[in-house]
Amino acid sequence: MTAVITDEKIPNNVNLAGDRRLQRALEEWQPHFLSWWQDMGPVGFQAKDVYLRTAVSVEADGWAHFDYVKMPDYRWGIFLEPKQAGRVHGFGDNQGQPVWDEVPGEFRNMLRRLVVTQGDTEPASVEQQRHLGSTAPSLYDLRNLFQVNVEEGRHLWAMVYLLHTYFGRDGREEAEELLKRRSGDSDKPRILGAFNEPTPHWLSFFMFTMFTDRDGKYQLAALAESGFDPLARTCRFMLTEEAHHMFVGETGVQRVVKRACELMKQAPNGDVRAQGGIDLPTIQKYLNLHFTLSLDLFGGEVSSNAADAFAAGLKGRYKEDRYDEHKLIGTHYTMDVLEDGKAVTKDIAMRNALNEVLRNEYIKDCQRGVDRWNKTIKDEGVDFELTLPSHKFHRQIGMWSTVCATPAGELIDRAEFEAKKHAWLPSAADETYIKSLMHAVTEPGKMASWVAPPAKGINGLPGEFQYVRLGA
Ligand SMILES: [Fe+2]
Ligand SMILES: [Fe+2]
Repeated sequence: MTAVITDEKIPNNVNLAGDRRLQRALEEWQPHFLSWWQDMGPVGFQAKDVYLRTAVSVEADGWAHFDYVKMPDYRWGIFLEPKQAGRVHGFGDNQGQPVWDEVPGEFRNMLRRLVVTQGDTEPASVEQQRHLGSTAPSLYDLRNLFQVNVEEGRHLWAMVYLLHTYFGRDGREEAEELLKRRSGDSDKPRILGAFNEPTPHWLSFFMFTMFTDRDGKYQLAALAESGFDPLARTCRFMLTEEAHHMFVGETGVQRVVKRACELMKQAPNGDVRAQGGIDLPTIQKYLNLHFTLSLDLFGGEVSSNAADAFAAGLKGRYKEDRYDEHKLIGTHYTMDVLEDGKAVTKDIAMRNALNEVLRNEYIKDCQRGVDRWNKTIKDEGVDFELTLPSHKFHRQIGMWSTVCATPAGELIDRAEFEAKKHAWLPSAADETYIKSLMHAVTEPGKMASWVAPPAKGINGLPGEFQYVRLGA
């Protein structure tokens, strides 16, 4: 494979120097990216040393290099997994045929839409999280936030590389547009709904990295199966970075849960809020909110776009290898659908059901995380169980967005939903309370009142390590 060239302006393992035109185009885009980062990236802290992991090679032992770096000096680069000789389409109408190294003309628009939609989420989440640094519950968490942010920036690079390399002039235009849209801006919003929602505090950051970054994992995994080989190779490497984001989310929530349990046992009346913690019922409400916003990202339950992308060999299923059959003609998926205002179970042509198939894989993965949180609660000796709400609850996209449901999935009328929704979703008062807890804790090893310390530090370092140097 090509070694990583790190002494160039743009670190890469794609032999960028061998394509002067492309290199020049990306070197022109680079200052636009950096000015976006300055404008829309983390507020404050840009001049501070942060103990970050930087990819310097895609090999298992080489891509995680740790050192202090100032965020604007982070070596954002282009890294693709090595090409596998003789790789063939693993699914769809072209199954068994050699994969494509160039974009097939007939699928150009569909492919560009997939790349742009994925690419748009990457800078969006950086924008959503840009104010969190000033209220980090510890230096460890502050460092993790910035690690996630710089890697989302690198994921943008990954998608922009594809746009510049394979989509000519409209690809370059799309790359510029990716820097112009703004999360939550009514004139120029990001493409997907969940990426226009604010991430106003750290509980929502942990829920976002648990649930919304996990959607990213499933989208990337489906694209990692692609018969357009450069996309597959890019997404495979992105997945290695994504794993850390979900770790931040899952362990972040787990630490909030653990702290809630400790405080319940400390106070004679079990009042967690009186002691500056976040009580378990409130955690459940934020879980409900972020899980359902993330379910929307999988798109409509019955989708001809999903069928087309699968048929074309552009977007597969999660871990396509685990399945025996890869063409999906004449097969069906049994799923809940809405008919005349009622939920009924139906067989849907498999290719049209692929959004739902991917969503269900995602739900299973989320459930494993929730099970681990429940184990923490049990280990603390507390009687409480967190649950994932039904896929019918609180939806904004797809067939369930036209009805109201309880977290258990029972369809109810809108009046009942409105009357009960603050038992299920965060209220303005909950939000005010959570925000009141958000104060920066900057002494190494110390934690805010509402979160337990991590089980271990980063890269084998102790919890009291100075993960961000805040001094001048
Ligand atoms: Fe990402
Ligand atoms: Fe991510």
